[in-house]
Amino acid sequence: STPVIFDCDPGIDDSIALLGAFVAPELDILAITPVCGNQPLDRTVRNALQICELGGRADIPVHAGCHRPLCREPIHGQFHGTTGLGSTVLPDPSKTVEPTTAVEALIAHLGRAARGERSKITMCCLGPLTNLALALRICPEIAGGIDRIVMMGGAFREPGNRTLTSEFNMLADPHAAQIVFAAGVPMTTLGLDATHQVMLLPDHVAMFAQKSGRISQTVAELMAFWDRNDVRRYGSRGGPLHDPLVTAWMLSPNFFESAPARVFVETESPLCLGQTVADWYGKSGEPANVDVVTKVDAQGVIDLYLDLMSRYEER
Ligand code: BDR
Ligand code: CA
Repeated sequence: STPVIFDCDPGIDDSIALLGAFVAPELDILAITPVCGNQPLDRTVRNALQICELGGRADIPVHAGCHRPLCREPIHGQFHGTTGLGSTVLPDPSKTVEPTTAVEALIAHLGRAARGERSKITMCCLGPLTNLALALRICPEIAGGIDRIVMMGGAFREPGNRTLTSEFNMLADPHAAQIVFAAGVPMTTLGLDATHQVMLLPDHVAMFAQKSGRISQTVAELMAFWDRNDVRRYGSRGGPLHDPLVTAWMLSPNFFESAPARVFVETESPLCLGQTVADWYGKSGEPANVDVVTKVDAQGVIDLYLDLMSRYEER
């Protein structure tokens, strides 16, 4: 199976992405590294621990990441409720966070891979990129241990979701995003152009409520909270399945089409902070660094998740 690390800020959609990954034998989850993002760090760590227990994966080490973005003031998510898990209340975690930090864990795992002591690792990034950027700044050689970065982030032909131009994960730490994009590692990004193609509709939520085995009620509750009910914006009810597309890409890359581009992140303009600026036609003179996902088989992704969640029946 493919060794992966989930760097994330759970987060309702992060939690769905993790619950999907937990039951996929194709993925060997080495660690989860929560960061300050949708909620402050203490919350994203707590939520990650709770989701591991809910999913029966208390075996996965959780390493706490950065308390703040690299340079800017922290901002938090808007659609995840006051705890980051909507209205869902989960038991206090009995599992505890690891003594080593996320950045130390990334340097250790990716360092071993870079030295050829283990196979290369795929970074599944679901939040602001602070942890990975800091690890790369401390030990640039760990880039050699990354097989690919598969991330949710950016807005290319779509407008932003947090500001006019910018998607939340990019805006929350634009400097980190720019460092990661420039690291010279193969990358795939699922930005709003991709994630807005997969809307989780009330009918879907009803199906998940029936099909998600022993965690059905929690999954349906999380998903119901995710419905923006903003037809004007999205053209339908429902909420976009942002982060779960990262897990889906890992399991079924055939559901996705992408185009290569050089991507830069705006780090200075007050108006456009966090904007992902793509050079599609080689005008910058720099080679493409990212596969930008442009098209998604939405039905395929929903069916994949229904299948993944049904596996909780046996767990
Ligand atoms: C991203 O922002 C967060 O609120 C979600 O978890 C997702 O990672 C979407 O813009
Ligand atoms: Ca997220």
